[in-house]
Amino acid sequence: MSANVANESEAPRHPPRHVAIVMDGNGRWATARGLPRPAGHHAGVETVRRIVEAAPALGIETLTLYAFSSDNWRRPTTEVAALMALLRRFVRAETARLAEAGARLTMLGRRDRLPGGLAEAIAAAEQATAAGTRLHLRVALDYSARDTILDAARRAAALPSLTREIFARLLSGDHGADPVPDVDLLIRTGGEQRLSDFLLWECAYAELLFVPRLWPDFSAADLADAVAWYAQRERRFGGFGAAPAAAAAPALTAASPAVVPSAA
Ligand code: FPP
Repeated sequence: MSANVANESEAPRHPPRHVAIVMDGNGRWATARGLPRPAGHHAGVETVRRIVEAAPALGIETLTLYAFSSDNWRRPTTEVAALMALLRRFVRAETARLAEAGARLTMLGRRDRLPGGLAEAIAAAEQATAAGTRLHLRVALDYSARDTILDAARRAAALPSLTREIFARLLSGDHGADPVPDVDLLIRTGGEQRLSDFLLWECAYAELLFVPRLWPDFSAADLADAVAWYAQRERRFGGFGAAPAAAAAPALTAASPAVVPSAA
């Protein structure tokens, strides 16, 4: 592990409990090397492994990764097939390692459109890792925040009463009996500054960090820098407080461009 933080006892004092990541830039990473786009996704899986391994020592309890949006079905069928095959391989290959590391894997998003074997592999991985308490790894697959909110609203209509907490539970899906905390820190790699229909309810007060570095190049040390940046933010949740600390943005770079922290 190459993170700046070696173990939980050295985690920042105010780490983000829930980190969500839009893993963008795989295609550009591959194209820049004259490789087919799926090669970028392949490299992106290695980054997933690094980040999952580094997260608990940084104090992160829940990590949600955006692997495939419901709009991604519009991509060329060859790229979609390659991604789905990669995901199936990842789930099958990593289940034992995740269980051993105390990580619980759950998926959010639709399962009825996934290709053969993937939904089954996910269900088996969820079962095999259910006892994990060190990290809750959530992978968003065929996911749309707006569809998820709509679906939760339909189910909420049948309930006798509704609170934010109850609604949040509905959003976490049939497989998320535990309340999932709101997102504290949302990171998007690849330089774009948008949410792309990801966790729109859960990110209500998230700190947003947009980094130019492409996902395959994102390292455990970069994650540690992002967590350190977050730890210096003053979160007011709409209340009144002292001026936010002038936290210098971490210098996460493709070659060396600075991070662009969110304006609001
Ligand atoms: C966006 O990059 C990335 C995706 C749509 C797929 C993300 C998937 C992985 C990182 C691999 C599998 C994930 C797990 C959890 C094992 P892009 O292709 O849109 O890149 P571009 O903006 O450069 O074209």
